[in-house]
Amino acid sequence: MPSPNEILNELKKVKYPGFTRDIVSFGLVKDIEVGHSGVTVFLGAVSANPDVARAVAENVKQTVAAMAGVGAVRVEVQSAPPTRQATVQSGRRPVPGVKHVIAVASGKGGVGKSTVAVNLALAMQASGRRVGLMDADVYGPSVAMMMGVEDSVRVSADKRIIPMQRYGVRYVSMALFVNDQTPVIWRGPMVTKLETEFLFNVDWGELDCLVLDLPPGTGDAQLTITQRVVLAGGVIVTTPQEVALLDVKRGVAMFKQVDTPVLGVIENMSYYTCKRCAHRHEIFGHGGGARMAEELGLEMLGELPITPEMRAGADHARPLVAVSPRHPASQEFMRIAGRILERLDRMPKPLNAEAAQ
Ligand SMILES: Nc1ncnc2c1ncn2[C@@H]1O[C@H](COP(=O)(O)OP(=O)(O)O)[C@@H](O)[C@H]1O
Ligand SMILES: [Mg+2]
Repeated sequence: MPSPNEILNELKKVKYPGFTRDIVSFGLVKDIEVGHSGVTVFLGAVSANPDVARAVAENVKQTVAAMAGVGAVRVEVQSAPPTRQATVQSGRRPVPGVKHVIAVASGKGGVGKSTVAVNLALAMQASGRRVGLMDADVYGPSVAMMMGVEDSVRVSADKRIIPMQRYGVRYVSMALFVNDQTPVIWRGPMVTKLETEFLFNVDWGELDCLVLDLPPGTGDAQLTITQRVVLAGGVIVTTPQEVALLDVKRGVAMFKQVDTPVLGVIENMSYYTCKRCAHRHEIFGHGGGARMAEELGLEMLGELPITPEMRAGADHARPLVAVSPRHPASQEFMRIAGRILERLDRMPKPLNAEAAQ
């Protein structure tokens, strides 16, 4: 009878349907038991699609059965011994091929959440990471406009959605499927539900980080998404006004409810540097964000100035970080990305990469 390690090695030959990567490197193999009665392979949540899950299980069975000395082979899907993270975030699935998923949230609309999500994704990409961006705000499809995505959606042979690629970042939005003719029944909770499934059916390939631009607010729609995906952390975008404190508190409470660490707060529209006199105008007051971060025990990830070029870039599909990497606001995005990546790199192995090492 081969050892569990030998079997694990053999399972590296099993490719995930539609991917060049194997199921072991995707972290799908959770445990292997070798007993008198045969071999049992425990697989994590394989796919939302039962056909894909069956195909993988069958392939695993055949691969192990073909090894010398192996008798009966059993494959159990999603009944791995629970890990700490799996216990805490039960019912959640990792996104296949994605190391870390982070969610960008805000208490309300208009604070620059989408602008931050787009430029943050670009800054991570500029730091040499493979990055994806998902617009989860179906009613404000601003990310598509900011990224300049117009193509229609393509679907692969195994019915997975192929993300668009702009400025080196892979991008999808369910907004690309929802239009004026979309039936009313699709609105509201229904959309959120479909959207979460949608996320798992994107052919992301291999990503170091997937950035989710959540819908604005901290209510049920946001909770539904954050409850179903294994999240590495949340990022809260706010503005410097004192009243924003309450929004940040709500954001913190939301992530707490789903046992997701808050990676920190980004203060947007913090100040304006006058082009003529070079003076830094702190229109909404000074130090509010930092005080609040301290009070709530959060990391202040960075402060972004009011930047006319950022707004213009957003309107014309020319995101600042991609087109003006030397701009002070782009540099601040690079520092913010660096801080977040440092946190992610220090995190324990994500659930879906556990068996990879
Ligand atoms: N730092 C900034 N400087 C100038 N304009 C900004 C800045 N951040 C965001 N904006 C602009 O503010 C508007 C709202 O931003 P958006 O990212 O769509 O907000 P949200 O996603 O929170 O609703 C957009 O027109 C955007 O270009
Ligand atoms: Mg938005």
